[in-house]
Amino acid sequence: MNSSAARDRGSARVRPGRRAALVSTAVGTVAAGMVLALATAASAGTTLATSAAEKGRYFGTAVAANKLSDSTYVGILNREFNMVTPENEMKWDATEPSQGQFNYTNADRIVSHAQANGMRVRGHALAWHLQQPGWAQNLSGSALRSAMVNHVTQVATHYKGKIHSWDVVNEAFADGGNGARRDSNLQRTGNDWIEVAFRTARAADPGAKLCYNDYNTDGQNAKSNAVYAMVSDFKARGVPIDCVGFQSHFNSASPVPGDYQANLQRFANLGLDVQITELDIEGSGTAQANSYATVVKACLAVSRCTGISVWGIRDTDSWRASGTPLLFDGNGNKKAAYTATLDALNGGTTPPTSTPPTTVPPTTTPPTTPPPGAGCTASLSLQTWTGGFVATVRVTAGSSGTNGWAATVTLPSGTAVTNAWNAQGSGTTGTVRFANVAYNGRLTAGQSTEFGFQGAGTPPSGTPSCTAS
Ligand code: G3I
Repeated sequence: MNSSAARDRGSARVRPGRRAALVSTAVGTVAAGMVLALATAASAGTTLATSAAEKGRYFGTAVAANKLSDSTYVGILNREFNMVTPENEMKWDATEPSQGQFNYTNADRIVSHAQANGMRVRGHALAWHLQQPGWAQNLSGSALRSAMVNHVTQVATHYKGKIHSWDVVNEAFADGGNGARRDSNLQRTGNDWIEVAFRTARAADPGAKLCYNDYNTDGQNAKSNAVYAMVSDFKARGVPIDCVGFQSHFNSASPVPGDYQANLQRFANLGLDVQITELDIEGSGTAQANSYATVVKACLAVSRCTGISVWGIRDTDSWRASGTPLLFDGNGNKKAAYTATLDALNGGTTPPTSTPPTTVPPTTTPPTTPPPGAGCTASLSLQTWTGGFVATVRVTAGSSGTNGWAATVTLPSGTAVTNAWNAQGSGTTGTVRFANVAYNGRLTAGQSTEFGFQGAGTPPSGTPSCTAS
């Protein structure tokens, strides 16, 4: 499929061309022009996390708990990333080594580190045919089904409110040309095992986005078509699924597909988020850098591509270390692939570092009151179930951009907020004010970001109010 054929049409985000149009139509006053020019200049971040956040995305990495004592590793992690995925520590063999006996020690270390450093967590993975403990490998039929349901319930409950997205089911489709389910002990419990896992995860943690995650589904092929059919069916029947993860492990034998963006877009068009979950690209130099840039640009071009995670920090941390597939070399130095990734996140431009545009007289004083269209707006979307809901609030900056924002939601009597993400809520009932957190307060003119909260009771209605600073 031609990748231009399925271009994002529904995006509310401001892409570079749109931003340029905004600038050219808004220079009615020199002062407003200056504010916009400064906002534009400020829009190029200097780390993967800040640059991605300015585009309304996260940038994450797989993390291994036993490397959290490595100061070089942690230094890069804390500087560059705002999402972490435990590489092995949340898998079934790690969290339930004996049936009914749960061990969260290493996974908790990663979650604690993330929380202490303002990062969010992708949970990986609740149900998978690999890395099962021996006792589960030896089960079958209803005993295995019950064990899986209990595992999903226990682990998702333990991490309730702490997980941005869960890989609920991982790698359930076979490679090859027939689009079949992968044969596994889980599959042999019945074809409905995947939807049972999703419904179980939703019941345990209604605030987490629930993803199906797989590899070799990055372009349109028999395997991704089969996943697409399953997700379409889930959406049609109300099986709770919020996102599809595209692992994106690439090398010369399996390069970035030409229809990568189009494939992300067709899944997004089903009405769910797409995420790049385990990105690594074997190679070196310019070729590797270009491939990383292609992946980042594809995600930025799909409005519901909400984030990118690489599968490790330094080449030496990779499961494919000999292929040097990551953004930092073994010494922690930034590679060409890093620069290309950052540049692509920044819209293909290097941040201007000095002189403002010549149209801005250096003596002009900034306006003391916001120009028309300043401030921000907020919109609310809801996912409801009996007795509760998850609310997603989209905050969009006005013509001056924001340094910070707050959205206020009025809850019906008897309704309470139970947890929130990407914003700091004050109060849980009545009129609740949600203020930005450190990584999403600064928005350029027209740029949007999203936060969410979960509530018990009747969902709110109406449009949240928004104030910008
Ligand atoms: O921790 C033990 C260590 O004590 C032991 O001495 C050593 C001997 O083999 O093994 C160590 O465990 C290994 C573990 O990684 C930690 O390094 C396991 O053997 C090894 O199988 C495991 O590999 C992981 C692999 O998943 C397992 O399938 C990789 O780290 C991990 O990067 C990889 O991640 C997967 C995703 O979960 C799903 N998508 C594909 C991706 C890459 O394979």
